[in-house]
Amino acid sequence: MCGIVGYIGNKDAKEILIEGLRELEYRGYDSAGLAILNSGEFNIYKAVGKLKNLEEKTKDFTTSGFSVGIAHTRWATHGKPTELNAHPHLGEESYVVHNGIIENYIELKKELEKKGVGFLSQTDTEVIVHRFEDNKKTIADNFKAFETTINELDGAYAILLVTKSSDDKIFFAKKGSPLLVGKDSNGNVYFASSDTAVIGKAEEVYYLEDDEYGYAGKNDIAVFDKSGNKKSLTFKRLSTNKLSAQKEGYRFFMEKEIYEQSEVIADTMLGRLKDEEVFFEEIDDSFFDGIDEIKFCACGTSYHAALSCAYLFERVAKIKTSVEIASELRYKEPLLTKNTLFVVISQSGETADTLETLKMAKKAGLKTLAVCNVDNSSMVRTADTTILTRAGIEKGVASTKAFATQVCVLWMLSLFMAGKKGTISKESLKEQLHLLRELPKVLKVKQKLHDRIKKLSKRYLHGHGFFFIGRDVFYPLALEGALKLKEISYLHAEGYPSGEMKHGPIALADPELFTIALLPQNLLYEKTKSNIEELSARDSTICIISSKNEEIADDFIKIDEHSHYMLEFFEMMVVLQLLSLEISVRLGNDVDMPRNLAKSVTVE
Ligand code: G6P
Repeated sequence: MCGIVGYIGNKDAKEILIEGLRELEYRGYDSAGLAILNSGEFNIYKAVGKLKNLEEKTKDFTTSGFSVGIAHTRWATHGKPTELNAHPHLGEESYVVHNGIIENYIELKKELEKKGVGFLSQTDTEVIVHRFEDNKKTIADNFKAFETTINELDGAYAILLVTKSSDDKIFFAKKGSPLLVGKDSNGNVYFASSDTAVIGKAEEVYYLEDDEYGYAGKNDIAVFDKSGNKKSLTFKRLSTNKLSAQKEGYRFFMEKEIYEQSEVIADTMLGRLKDEEVFFEEIDDSFFDGIDEIKFCACGTSYHAALSCAYLFERVAKIKTSVEIASELRYKEPLLTKNTLFVVISQSGETADTLETLKMAKKAGLKTLAVCNVDNSSMVRTADTTILTRAGIEKGVASTKAFATQVCVLWMLSLFMAGKKGTISKESLKEQLHLLRELPKVLKVKQKLHDRIKKLSKRYLHGHGFFFIGRDVFYPLALEGALKLKEISYLHAEGYPSGEMKHGPIALADPELFTIALLPQNLLYEKTKSNIEELSARDSTICIISSKNEEIADDFIKIDEHSHYMLEFFEMMVVLQLLSLEISVRLGNDVDMPRNLAKSVTVE
């Protein structure tokens, strides 16, 4: 979590840092700050809340000539979102910004306190800058003092540190949290947590590996590995084509992203659907050799994509499939056997828990695959093979198009595997390919449907809870529908398998319990209907999403008739996304940046 930007050069440092933070605000936005060293003086600004507050505070501040700056947008891990806890953190003459968690900070802090060092914040980060200044007392060379400091830290970090007595440099280090360093042909140097923050500025970037650290000055970037050896760096050219992430007339990024799904899904499938087979150029013929089990691992929405598609892998590719929540898998001492393909699913490719499980699987010698939306992300760089979901930049914290493209990739992958294993007939495969080609049409948001949902949303702003229910693949979709609602409306919502309601949750049923029921025509229709009837009999308020109206419903959202349940799945997904969006709008919430959440969670 948290976003970091750094800059060294003669351009307008404040503008560069603020623009960079704007691109990273999705990573955390409970406070922001910057420190710019210009003409031997530090200029520090911090503000609680969104970046616009920092912009307001710095509106009269300008820099000229050469300057060195670091900046940060925060998602709190230790200490409340206050100005004192906002980064950069200050020592006697140095400032630091940090993304990650310093696990041994209490121990380090105690040692410093014994020496009389005072702390201003409740953060783990502050210990870094005091430790550095303490080391500086005995180590003459500032960079050596920084190196020593880094070696004292346990945990995860991306760190930028500036100090007055090396006022033309930034010291940096990376372990477990993303960090890149970039440069342009004029010798300007940039740092960021993700390349979106430096697109259009840096021309080339180097993505730091774990345990790398170094220093940078104008025209001078030095990176060292864990053993202290200087690395020769291969920079990558950065695309200048900044994907337009403007709202383009939509009220929110989330809304724009829901509407975009039809187009991005076409990109997801581009070149991957042949006449009679699915084709992934990323996967060679021997990739599945020796594999007779799949383990998916993910968090949040990506976990729901995995859960949905696990049904398809067992059903179509006839392969044993399990799905794990990354934060659970990490500590359960799992049996990871080499006949298992380990698949991580992640929009960002940076989620700390998922990344760690990927490393665990690699260490255990498993073949690994990342299904990811961000090229060059940590997971992409770690996995043996990657399939990119091609959703484009997703800005809304509540994930929509990333989910759609993940499910699409996994559905295609199940068919790809089924084809290789010969568990699907030629005719069925052709039929499924045809269904996939229908997706852009299915995902097109119909104005009439959106208007209906907008109107209906006013009835669902209160109550003591929501149950989203469904069976089979519609159960994970129900989980995802409930998660979307929770994330942006702050209403209590649960996803449940329809058939399981009678084993407890039905006790909650009354008119103030809202049931959003997913009733597909092409999968377990009668069974799901009976489950809905059980709730209707107990007077729960029921909204059915289906192509066919049923009398048991209090409300009904009609989707098109489709020939296959996966097409119903995708249209219902759009309905659920729009429903949460409209409820959140009516409640007056910040749809794109809901409270307490962050787009990319790079801490455990
Ligand atoms: C955060 C986001 C969720 C996302 C989850 C996993 O919690 O708010 O929308 O599903 O992280 O993220 P990933 O990038 O790994 O898919």
